[in-house]
Amino acid sequence: MAATQHAHWSSRWAFLLAAVGSAVGLGNIWKFPYEAGQGGGGAFVLVYLVFVFLIGTPMLVAELSLGRRGQMSPINSMAKVAREEKRSALWSLIGWSGVVGAFIVISFYSVVGGWTLAYVIKSATGEFNNITAAASADTFVAYISDPVKTIVSHVAFMAITIFIVAKGVQGGLEKAVTFLMPALFALLLILVIYSGIAGDFKATINFLFNPDFDKLFYSETVSATGETVRHFSLDTVLQALGQSFFSLSLALGSIMTYGSYLTRDVNLGKSAVLIASADSAVALMAGLAIFPIVFAYGLDVGQGGGLVFMTLPIAFGQMPFGIVVGTLFFALLAVAAITSSISLLEPPVSYIEEKTNMSRRKVALTMGILAGLVGVLSAYSQGTNMLSDVRIFGLSIMDAKDFLTNNIMMPLAGMFTALFVGWFVSRKSMMDELALEDRTFRVWYFLVRFVSPVAVGVIFVKIIFDVITG
Ligand code: PFF
Repeated sequence: MAATQHAHWSSRWAFLLAAVGSAVGLGNIWKFPYEAGQGGGGAFVLVYLVFVFLIGTPMLVAELSLGRRGQMSPINSMAKVAREEKRSALWSLIGWSGVVGAFIVISFYSVVGGWTLAYVIKSATGEFNNITAAASADTFVAYISDPVKTIVSHVAFMAITIFIVAKGVQGGLEKAVTFLMPALFALLLILVIYSGIAGDFKATINFLFNPDFDKLFYSETVSATGETVRHFSLDTVLQALGQSFFSLSLALGSIMTYGSYLTRDVNLGKSAVLIASADSAVALMAGLAIFPIVFAYGLDVGQGGGLVFMTLPIAFGQMPFGIVVGTLFFALLAVAAITSSISLLEPPVSYIEEKTNMSRRKVALTMGILAGLVGVLSAYSQGTNMLSDVRIFGLSIMDAKDFLTNNIMMPLAGMFTALFVGWFVSRKSMMDELALEDRTFRVWYFLVRFVSPVAVGVIFVKIIFDVITG
């Protein structure tokens, strides 16, 4: 192993900005609003928030503490803690899952990141002026089906990510987030204010904060005879749990790696609550920015993944100052995506840096290019692009990677992380590492020992059941 001096954040503030930057991403601004839209609004939001604070926040503490104690990449940190606790070396598989998972996720996250950059330009050049719903859908499909345009934006997005990661923790990550995170909050605030004035704010508040529990526990299917049948289903609840994990950047090694750059004087409990609160606040603000526009223009809230790229441009094309608002919106999305993608490239880079004598710049470039190349397969699997006919278990390449990471690797890694910290690391080591007030520690310990593994285990069993029963 190369003897590298492990880097550290220059301050607690820098760490918090970077961790919030990792958490706040496409998951908050692109995924959360459309999942809330499909899950019936308020009830989804409520359950989501319960999961964030009851399961996600204790898991943030667990991952940060493992990284900080190990002071290395997720793989070597897990190996080190397991060794010190006299546990099997196999626990380092959690680290492996994180590093490999982060590599897979960045390979498609950067594709969608590229779309956001392309949409900044489309919006700024007035491409959405008076666009109809059909034309907006056509614009999106034509773009994702274009082999040259999608690669140009994907490469541009990856190049920015590599550039920041190559410059290291203090020179790259910190510098980028101290500039980008305030910009992100400012853009979001401008958009919320604009939507509040120009959009249908009342309908939005009602939609986001007035829970319809029916939608949460029942889903409707149309039977062969054309009747609508209502049946009990936990799909939306589990969706909210999965989304809370993804949104907090859990189980992919990112938070563990950011934890490894921490010194012992930082309070992990307080930091985790802050990160989770900021992440949820941004998700809700994204809802407050998007839904007033969707309602005011009579658009469909349950549109799914197309909400941001196909539905919103219709409104931008009609509203006063639409070019400015649309451009700001996609710039916001791009900034959020970049501060997350750097945290996804970080786990593989930190591992390879430990394994070899290569400079950080070379490692960042190599890993970034490799992930970028694997990402081309995802980019080309969209629309009618070159690999759109390729199916893996019935899924496109991009969806298959998403399924493998989000539905299999992340729940498994999450469950084993909770089990490891709750049952295989001694209580005393955890108390020393966290230095929490006694009662807070007891609450955290209970959540991480019992609640998190069971909840995450249930998601996993449900996913496997769904796969088996088709
Ligand atoms: N939390 C990011 C988002 O909400 O978009 C995505 C993400 C980043 C997930 C880093 C996992 C991760 F390790």
